[in-house]
Amino acid sequence: MDAENAHNFSVQALKLVGKLPFDPLPIPHNPVEVMGLQFKNPIGLAAGADKNGEAIDGFGKLGFSFIEVGTVTPVAQDGNPKPRQFRLLEAEGIINRNGFNNYGVDLLVENVKRSKYDGVLGINIGKNAFTPIENALDDYQICLRKVYEYADYITVNISSPNTKNLRSLQYGDALDELLSALKQEQSILSQKFAKYKPLVLKIAPDLTDEEVASVADSLVRHKIDGVIAGNTTLSREPVAGLKHAEQQGGLSGKPLNSLSTHLIRRLAKELNGQLPIIGSGGIHSVSSGQEKIDAGASLLQVYSAMIYQGPALIQELAKQIKLNK
Ligand SMILES: Cc1cc2nc3c(=O)[nH]c(=O)nc-3n(C[C@H](O)[C@H](O)[C@H](O)COP(=O)(O)O)c2cc1C
Repeated sequence: MDAENAHNFSVQALKLVGKLPFDPLPIPHNPVEVMGLQFKNPIGLAAGADKNGEAIDGFGKLGFSFIEVGTVTPVAQDGNPKPRQFRLLEAEGIINRNGFNNYGVDLLVENVKRSKYDGVLGINIGKNAFTPIENALDDYQICLRKVYEYADYITVNISSPNTKNLRSLQYGDALDELLSALKQEQSILSQKFAKYKPLVLKIAPDLTDEEVASVADSLVRHKIDGVIAGNTTLSREPVAGLKHAEQQGGLSGKPLNSLSTHLIRRLAKELNGQLPIIGSGGIHSVSSGQEKIDAGASLLQVYSAMIYQGPALIQELAKQIKLNK
């Protein structure tokens, strides 16, 4: 089966699992507080697995203490032509160039309202492909306003490699202007709803060490609440010569692991504990997850390894990861 069809099939199955009146797999108790939020354990579902928030309750029953839905954009869009998702089986990797296919922010909000999940819910926001990059802020503001009331935290995704020029928002003035405007909006919304919701930035593992230092400086100056390190990579070094390695898009899964751990280590050094890091990229075992905690992450997110190994991995990680409290 095509990789994307297989995934869509799983999401539909999890929609049904979500309706079960009991939890097939209990949520492991290994609690931690991050960004003022209480997590039952340090393991979350990374963005992209449930783009429209269709199966939140089903994913919740697998043991995740937090679920990040999206990336969602102001209006629905199809994304790139199919096929756009490829499994690199020998390496336990995935290359995707989906391009933010989603049903739009309004539908996502309706799905979130219906959910009964009692873990932490993150909503990951992005820009429509047709919006010029100079106007990206408008899209993030539209999404932030629409999701604020319904999210426990909001992730600003500027690191997908599959939306033209999106990653340019990670640098210099473009980043400062975006963060400054979104912090202002967060402040207005926190007064309107009498509740402060953390803003998290998701960055790419392809930044150089100097660029990481510069992003860290912006995160601290703008008082951003957390950072996800990181998204998929454009590098093909770890999969050179393998079937599908030449496909365009972002590489995730096991081959991304060490690159993403390096990003976390660099960020942790620059941030010096001033804001928390959520580790994402290639976690495929307890030891690879523990490495990311030891490198400076406070929470972890998983996507690709769940596809290769199933929900047992989530239970194992959630129970066995030792937090540096
Ligand atoms: C098919 C696919 C779609 C993804 N879509 C998104 C997305 O919409 N937004 C986002 O921030 N990250 C997206 N990601 C990236 C994941 O959230 C995660 O950061 C990345 O895959 C690394 O984690 P992993 O190695 O555990 O998969 C996607 C990943 C995959 C494999």
